[in-house]
Amino acid sequence: MHRVEVPVVVRSKSETYQYLIRDIKAVLDDEGNRIAKMATVVSLCAQAFPDWFWTGFYCVDEVKKTQGIEELVVGPYTGTLGCLRIAFGRGVCGTAAATRTTQIVPDVHAFPGHIACDSRSNSEIVVPVFDPAGELIAVFDVDSEQYDAFDETDRDGLEDIMALTFGKS
Ligand code: SME
Repeated sequence: MHRVEVPVVVRSKSETYQYLIRDIKAVLDDEGNRIAKMATVVSLCAQAFPDWFWTGFYCVDEVKKTQGIEELVVGPYTGTLGCLRIAFGRGVCGTAAATRTTQIVPDVHAFPGHIACDSRSNSEIVVPVFDPAGELIAVFDVDSEQYDAFDETDRDGLEDIMALTFGKS
């Protein structure tokens, strides 16, 4: 019997980011709503990388900010139940927010103050998200069940996605 070979496309991580960035640009080209953009980025990223365990945003709480309190509140995400609020400086997300720098954590259990929303998470990357004025508006958090799942390719890809999606007016 003749068997039809279904081509399996195996892409490198950087190629996956190239296609992902192309798709995000195409879908969000004319969209200005921040929640719509965040939800779409979560969906497309999680589909591009099916092995990601938790993918989503923690947003700067604008009400708390007016009271002088720096706190993140959970935004659009996919994955198991996430913590609702994280103070700046706490855990990986809070550190990314406080320092405005990407955090790559190969072993979350070794990270001081790591917040274990789900014990299956073993490594993570958290990228700060800025508006066109350069103000921090959120952090983008990805968790993996694998140790050491994230590298410079993820940093470059995710920082590019956040800049092209939220950093331009
Ligand atoms: N791991 C994060 C908390 C958020 S959850 O993983 C969804 C942290 O330590 O910042």
